[in-house]
Amino acid sequence: MTIFKRNVIAAMLAALAAGIAGFSPAVIAADKPAAKKAVIAADKPAAKKISFPPLGSLPPVPVPADNPMSPEKTELGKMLFWDSRLGGDASSPCAVCHQPEKGWGDGGEISRGYPGTQHWRNSQTVLNSAYYNKLFWEGSVTSLESQAPAAAEGNVAGNGDPSLMEMRLRFIPEYVERFKQVFGSEWPRITHAYQAIAAFQRTLNSDAKQVPFDRFIAGDKKALSENAQRGMAVYHGKGGCIQCHNGSLASDQKFYSLGVPENDVFKTDPLYQITHRWEHYQKGVNEKDYRGADIDLGLYYITKNPKDIGKFRTPSLRELKYTAPFMHNGIFYTLDEVVDFYNKGGGAANWPNKTPLIKPLGLTDQEKKDLVAFLESLSMDKPLLMDPPKLPPYQPMKVTK
Ligand code: HEC
Ligand code: HEC
Repeated sequence: MTIFKRNVIAAMLAALAAGIAGFSPAVIAADKPAAKKAVIAADKPAAKKISFPPLGSLPPVPVPADNPMSPEKTELGKMLFWDSRLGGDASSPCAVCHQPEKGWGDGGEISRGYPGTQHWRNSQTVLNSAYYNKLFWEGSVTSLESQAPAAAEGNVAGNGDPSLMEMRLRFIPEYVERFKQVFGSEWPRITHAYQAIAAFQRTLNSDAKQVPFDRFIAGDKKALSENAQRGMAVYHGKGGCIQCHNGSLASDQKFYSLGVPENDVFKTDPLYQITHRWEHYQKGVNEKDYRGADIDLGLYYITKNPKDIGKFRTPSLRELKYTAPFMHNGIFYTLDEVVDFYNKGGGAANWPNKTPLIKPLGLTDQEKKDLVAFLESLSMDKPLLMDPPKLPPYQPMKVTK
């Protein structure tokens, strides 16, 4: 696309974001006390009030200067992503919880955990994860390079000891060769393994040519059905989704409490409760919360600010067709359920720190359907599938004496 065209479209969408259906003033109104509301409303014409970064096609994937991409590196990363020797026992490579045919998640409400444990959150898709600057539902790490060790070594995920995993890699001659070629090191190093995995994940992105919405904004007016086009207006207008799901990723990468109901497994299953307590312990909450709280405190674990209890990072809305169930605890299986949730104004009004940006929407059945059609248009026509790579075997080292 030419820069000119891109600018025109960006401007178009920005106008759309700011102006549709008199939605903007309502948003401001929700945030501020009544007295200010009137002033703001009288002050400026509605169209100019708020503009959000427009939805748009994803830019080229960002690559950190200290981990440049190469085909050899991403191929090595792909092997490691599937290799169960990166993990405690042979059960938990990245690919068991991030399966291509399950939208690169694990398909469960709450992710499986390392054997003998249960995870406590929904396994996120790794598709387009290279575009986030904060990873995980609570945004606790800031790069794919630092996310990989958290996953491979984290006790309820890979549960691998880094020095042991490194030793394993050194006993696989093909890896020794490949690490040497890619990183110039004599022996495989675990940090290089994480870099290769990060590089591989940077290749797992939505292909704009396959995404109806991306084709639409690139000029193909037939790419979106009429339903989806009406849904786009709901998204920017009456639905208010653009307030948080904005920019090319359809995520502002900020944190909000929506009052997503707790998943009942935490009330009934000891393994889930064990992880919950353990996470509280690991994340260093105070004793009262450690003993008493059986809800996921979200961003609070990072900041320890009570105002952050219940907040989670806004997820991207790309590829939702393939990534159900939804939300940090997988509580919703369909987009209809998600839209119903928003239409009711989110969860309980007294939920800790519930954002005022979420209010009952009064959508008609048709508007709800249209909105779902638009959400689906942000996914590729077909899922991104991939065959597992062939993994090289161990070989004993020559005994020198
Ligand atoms: C036992 C299951 C499990 C394994 C194994 C696992 N993950 Fe995950 N992954 C999850 C869950 C669950 C989350 C969300 C966790 C959270 O937010 O607390 C997640 C989150 C992520 C994210 C963040 C995505 C986002 O939108 O922020 C990335 C990237 C990721 N995993 C990559 C990996 C890689 C790479 C490996 C292997 C080194 C791996 N995972 C191994 C379950 C797993
Ligand atoms: C105030 C910010 C905000 C607004 C407005 C908002 N969302 Fe969200 N959305 C979030 C957050 C935060 C989450 C994750 C919440 C959680 O897991 O507890 C989320 C999750 C989702 C998910 C689940 C995605 C996944 O991968 O699990 C969907 C789908 C979604 N929102 C669609 C919408 C739609 C449609 C609208 C408009 C009707 C909307 N959102 C309005 C912040 C927002």
